[in-house]
Amino acid sequence: MISVKTLTKKYGSFTAVNDISFEVEKGEIVGFLGPNGAGKSTTMKILTSFLPPTSGSANVAGFDVFRQSIEARKRLGYLPENTPLYTDMKVGEYLRFRAKLKGVPGSKVRERVGDVLELCQIKDREKQLIGALSKGYRQRVGLADALVHDPDLLILDEPTIGLDPNQIRTVRELIRNLAQKRTVLISTHILPEVEIMCSRVIVIHQGKIRATDTAENLLKNHRSIGELRFEAKAGDGAAGALSRVAGVKDVSAEADGEWTNFTLRLDANAQPGAEIMKLAAERNWPVRELHQKRATLEDVFAELTMNEA
Ligand SMILES: Nc1ncnc2c1ncn2[C@@H]1O[C@H](COP(=O)(O)OP(=O)(O)O)[C@@H](O)[C@H]1O
Ligand SMILES: [Mg+2]
Repeated sequence: MISVKTLTKKYGSFTAVNDISFEVEKGEIVGFLGPNGAGKSTTMKILTSFLPPTSGSANVAGFDVFRQSIEARKRLGYLPENTPLYTDMKVGEYLRFRAKLKGVPGSKVRERVGDVLELCQIKDREKQLIGALSKGYRQRVGLADALVHDPDLLILDEPTIGLDPNQIRTVRELIRNLAQKRTVLISTHILPEVEIMCSRVIVIHQGKIRATDTAENLLKNHRSIGELRFEAKAGDGAAGALSRVAGVKDVSAEADGEWTNFTLRLDANAQPGAEIMKLAAERNWPVRELHQKRATLEDVFAELTMNEA
């Protein structure tokens, strides 16, 4: 549905998107993740024909977004990062105007607008001025706009930014609902959102793709970032012995009565739990807890988007 090949975008001498390639298959919901300034919006603007690439190519539904932009745009709906809505138009009026602009046949406009008003749960706002709506409602009008010509592909640039937690939940449910019949590329930095909604993630940082995988695989491959907690009745020298176990970076210890609570920082992918249990058995340390923290998507994201030294 989307095919991006060696795409580069420069603003003057600054390279915002640097030779990226990726694919999005029909029916996928792909999270496009990256810190501020990573190049997400730039990529999305190219995919939606708002910006020309400096080099490389991008196709949507088989159409080149630069040379066949009208055909490509017919098949995609775009929610830009700052939804530019006409604040002095009424919701229904605006959506009918947009539908005509996007080539929905005159006889179908009312029906399509009725459908998206319903889909985005804004039917009761049809006659209100857009300028009088809350940010959450405006975002739903933006989504209705993106959907009005019934595209197969949705490109959503940070659709929940600036919304309060209740609005976020509503918009998220709405998107999940829309995604059942469509392909979706969604940029966000709300990581739980990605785990809930996306079948796959593309991580971009400083204009380069850092990872493309399912959230599950990213987590599996970064299993043991973080630390291990170990609580035992262990005497002097225990911290030293623990720090010599393979994969342990450093050890801190805190006394808790007769018990000592150790926190071990680990090397990437280290699994020292079994070795530590063996050590405890050899030295007759009673153990009350051994727990290795699993990496969260946030840990993985931090590792992938850390600035290069
Ligand atoms: N019109 C522009 N002119 C110059 N630099 C820009 C322009 N738009 C974006 N940039 C820069 O390109 C980089 C990527 O921006 P953007 O694609 O908006 O990132 P993201 O959406 O991931 O936050 C940023 O460093 C940004 O400052
Ligand atoms: Mg952006």
